[in-house]
Amino acid sequence: MNTKMLRAEEAAEAAALLRRGEIVGMPTETVYGLGGDAGNADAVRAIFAAKGRPADNPLIVHIADLRDWAPLVTEIPPLAKALARRFWPGPLTMILPRTDKVPEITAGGLDTVGVRFPAHPVAQEMIRLAGVPIAAPSGNRSGSPSPTTAAHMLADMDGRIPAIVDGGSCLCGVESTVISFDNGSTVRVLRPGFVTPEQLQTVAPNVIVDEAVLAQLTPGTVVRSPGMKYKHYAPKAEVMIVEGDTRHFIAYLLRKQAEGVYALVFDSDMEACDKAGILAVPYGDTDEQCAAEFFARLRELDDRGAKAIYVRAPRTDGVGLAVYNRLIRAAGFRVLHAG
Ligand code: TXA
Ligand code: MG
Repeated sequence: MNTKMLRAEEAAEAAALLRRGEIVGMPTETVYGLGGDAGNADAVRAIFAAKGRPADNPLIVHIADLRDWAPLVTEIPPLAKALARRFWPGPLTMILPRTDKVPEITAGGLDTVGVRFPAHPVAQEMIRLAGVPIAAPSGNRSGSPSPTTAAHMLADMDGRIPAIVDGGSCLCGVESTVISFDNGSTVRVLRPGFVTPEQLQTVAPNVIVDEAVLAQLTPGTVVRSPGMKYKHYAPKAEVMIVEGDTRHFIAYLLRKQAEGVYALVFDSDMEACDKAGILAVPYGDTDEQCAAEFFARLRELDDRGAKAIYVRAPRTDGVGLAVYNRLIRAAGFRVLHAG
């Protein structure tokens, strides 16, 4: 199968494929997704196969009209409604008990479903023209970094899927914030994203960040979100987080110099790294820039044959928490202290 690249103007062609039960690469504001008719078990099976994804890891269902939410879930609590009003369309996925409109395979065997109304105009057009909710995990092969451009997705999926719609680079660069509800007033963040705990707090009385967001689960722990238990986002190179300021980071890296050793640093570290003769790649200064560039830089460093990547990590508040969450998984929870 040749994978066809479609332009954003050809969204109707992609929607026709979706209606026929085919699976298609879809740009969203977070990362590229691999979309298929959420109600079509064969399409969903094809998504799992193309990604090489474990069958117990559920897919997010995407809608492009608020009215399409109610049929998917048994009930929409007032807090969920309020969050939708504030954050949809946008990078927020809400998990609620599902109806039988969502096949068991789409839900990874769970009795819940995560629903998201993406903000990207091309995603919205594809979903509207398809006329059905679209199940879409991130468009990478299972375990590799999420694709933030159509070219990244092609690199993973060439020959495995019929088409990818090219909607340019993703604005956020990290996947949506995933939340569940502990009760009518408490939101639990299972995966941090561009909708931050601080922002959720402006609508929800209580916001809890699940312990699995930053910590490694001990074997046997019951996970609230199956995705948490898999090693994620990992490039081929070994990734390590190095805590400490620029000076300590550089001193540490000087001791680690060897072929294939790279540093992934903030823009503001570059001059000092250059002076010290450290092979460094920048991924931004603000949390938002780092989020947008993170997965792309990991892929780039893999292409350059990196063997080890030492990373300056952002703080764990705001969007920084989303970056740190991906980083610590890419790093297999290895955090080094430089001083
Ligand atoms: O931004 C995004 O969310 C992207 C774009 C394409 O929309 N999609 C995405 O999907 O990141 P995926 O499948 O790569 O990640 C979904 C995560 C997984 O960790 C999964 O375990 C969790 O959300 N998840 C999905 N449905 C769930 C459910 N019913 N209960 C618990 N966790 C769920
Ligand atoms: Mg994913």
